[in-house]
Amino acid sequence: MHIYLTDGEGREHRLDALEGWRVMEIVRDHGFPIIAECGGACACGTCQVEVDPEWASRLHEPRDDELDMLDQNYGGPWSRLSCQLIFTAKLDGLRLRIADVALKDAA
Ligand code: FES
Repeated sequence: MHIYLTDGEGREHRLDALEGWRVMEIVRDHGFPIIAECGGACACGTCQVEVDPEWASRLHEPRDDELDMLDQNYGGPWSRLSCQLIFTAKLDGLRLRIADVALKDAA
């Protein structure tokens, strides 16, 4: 199973994805410069990604604490916190982009 990740320079990468892993962990473990400062506690907002609009409706709804973090970190309509997205077979082929606010180089 895979996700397709667009990096800060607009290049798309196909990443192996394991069921049960947070999308943030998949991105980080493949060596991409995502900040993810709090390690997945939904407390920093620096794991923000923009999900392909075609995939957005297939994700579970964000909880209130995720919405709060997105509000504080310039989230847009397709923004999610990648630490709150648990990868499942249903998400095989998910497309997303690392948000500028979550890129180490841009911070
Ligand atoms: S890693 Fe901090 S909110 Fe996701």
